[in-house]
Amino acid sequence: MTTTAQPQTATEPSFEELAKRVDDAARRVAELEGPAKETAEELKRAVEAIHRAGLITIVRRMRQDERARELLFELVDEPVVRMLLSLHGIIRPDPMTEATRVLESVRPSLQSHGGDVELVRIEDGVAYVRLHGACNGCSMVSVTLRNGVEEALIGNVAGIHKVEVLPNEPSPTLIPLSALRIGPDPRQEGWVQAAPLEEVPAGKITPLHLVSANGREIDVIVVHLDGRLTAFVNACAHQGLPLDGALLDTNAGTLTCPWHGFCFNALSGECLSAPEAQLEQLPLRVDDGHVWIRVGS
Ligand code: FES
Repeated sequence: MTTTAQPQTATEPSFEELAKRVDDAARRVAELEGPAKETAEELKRAVEAIHRAGLITIVRRMRQDERARELLFELVDEPVVRMLLSLHGIIRPDPMTEATRVLESVRPSLQSHGGDVELVRIEDGVAYVRLHGACNGCSMVSVTLRNGVEEALIGNVAGIHKVEVLPNEPSPTLIPLSALRIGPDPRQEGWVQAAPLEEVPAGKITPLHLVSANGREIDVIVVHLDGRLTAFVNACAHQGLPLDGALLDTNAGTLTCPWHGFCFNALSGECLSAPEAQLEQLPLRVDDGHVWIRVGS
């Protein structure tokens, strides 16, 4: 099923026109004074409350029905629907977006002290970050800056209860696989030598068909973005259709599924279109010029 934008009729105002109308009315209400202002604001609150209750009922009922749930996922992609549900607090902003926004707000203060922070991923309520410049080390300043980052993330992003600082030097392309080997042969641990590094070009999605030592076959995609490599099972979180034709936006760091347009964080696999969806990420390491992916033992 594909999502098609409904054509505007001559009498149907556009999303921008509707948003402007709301902005203009809100501005005029803000200029009112005394009882008139109180009445207008109470009217606004009452209308919003009834809309919110209706929307919650619609969303709740649609989530209970398999086919309606699929339609709901598609509707959430429509800007006007997404805005409406966000405004009423019915859909959460995804944690990566929220955490990035929070870090942007503390970044000027970090940078004014010669430090900086990079959000790497969020997993199971833990935000993994890398700290740079004055944020690193054990001086008073660095401890204060680190505490500031931790407080900002835990205090302002729902679902983050812990912040872990990752070491700066190693990146997925530098960690020797030998350091991770448990058994004598990584293949026995489910690792597959997937491709030479030069066959996984930067800024691209590389589809690979892998066969593990015990014969398990799996299709994966490797995303090479900003010097980092990430492997996902080649199946969209929406309907499981292949992602090798997805659009990789290297500026935004997003992956857009070609089938119905679900948008994902290209490094974490977090779905930016539907809060409950997530691409299945696989462990990836680079060793001796080869990409290794763990597909299970
Ligand atoms: S968005 Fe539907 S399969 Fe990907």
